[in-house]
Amino acid sequence: MADLFSMKNRVALVTGASRGLGRDMALTLAGAGARVLCAGRSVKDLEATVRMIARKGGKAEAVPLDVTDEAGVAAAVAALARRHRRIDVLVNNAGIIHREAIVDTATETYRSVIETNLVAQFRLSREVGRHMLKQRYGRIVNISSVLGVLGRASVAGYVSAKHGLIGLTKNLAVELGPHVTANAIAPGFMRTEFTAGLQKNDAFSGMIEQRTAAHRWGEPKDLRGPLLLLASDAGAYMTGSTLVVDGGLTTILA
Ligand SMILES: NC(=O)c1ccc[n+]([C@@H]2O[C@H](COP(=O)([O-])OP(=O)(O)OC[C@H]3O[C@@H](n4cnc5c(N)ncnc54)[C@H](OP(=O)(O)O)[C@@H]3O)[C@@H](O)[C@H]2O)c1
Repeated sequence: MADLFSMKNRVALVTGASRGLGRDMALTLAGAGARVLCAGRSVKDLEATVRMIARKGGKAEAVPLDVTDEAGVAAAVAALARRHRRIDVLVNNAGIIHREAIVDTATETYRSVIETNLVAQFRLSREVGRHMLKQRYGRIVNISSVLGVLGRASVAGYVSAKHGLIGLTKNLAVELGPHVTANAIAPGFMRTEFTAGLQKNDAFSGMIEQRTAAHRWGEPKDLRGPLLLLASDAGAYMTGSTLVVDGGLTTILA
């Protein structure tokens, strides 16, 4: 059965692999046998991810990349496809958040969140998708959020982009099939730097513990199984879908 989830001989591009969920997903894919292309802006942190993978006997390289840079993404994907001859898996994980009431949020601020959290995923999927179509194989995994299915005060750009990413995933599925699949993961609240402020907020943490059937925050390792399912041959008949990995948060009212 392990073969079903094997990533042996696969080349996987993971954005936002410099820390948090992206770093753990890069380690997971490498642990299952993939060569992982670790993309992001902080080169030192990417190199740290690459070293962690190498220490465990895996294969990885750092890819300095700002996902909002149109020309930079096109050039990087072309160079990676030339060098490795294929890109089998794309994990669109890089993301940012901005917290401010809608009535105080400048259009430019809203637009910048949409740029990083939705337009960049479109751009990367388009560039990598062309190669996947040619090689007649591909797995795209978009990291959305429970805020891709629910609203939350003060994060309008984030909520809009994460909802949009679930829509984009459906379109990628229909346009890139049958040999390329596209799915989304919608994590609940996970312990990373991204949620550092919320983790220190006792009222919020209490709400998470009470509102989840799991009675706890998510950890990066909670995404390993769902990721491998969607990135490997195990998920061959899944496309256009969203796996909600939230400890039950969105299925329980109180
Ligand atoms: N943590 C949670 O509770 C949670 C829940 C649901 C969904 N998510 C989603 O999961 C993803 C990862 O979250 P996380 O918690 O791991 O956050 P994080 O620790 O803040 O990591 C974010 C990653 O995105 C990269 N990034 C941001 N802007 C970028 C850009 N313009 N170009 C390239 N890379 C960029 C960062 O790398 P550099 O700074 O090096 O560029 C970093 O590696 C995000 O999409 C987030 O929305 C997180």
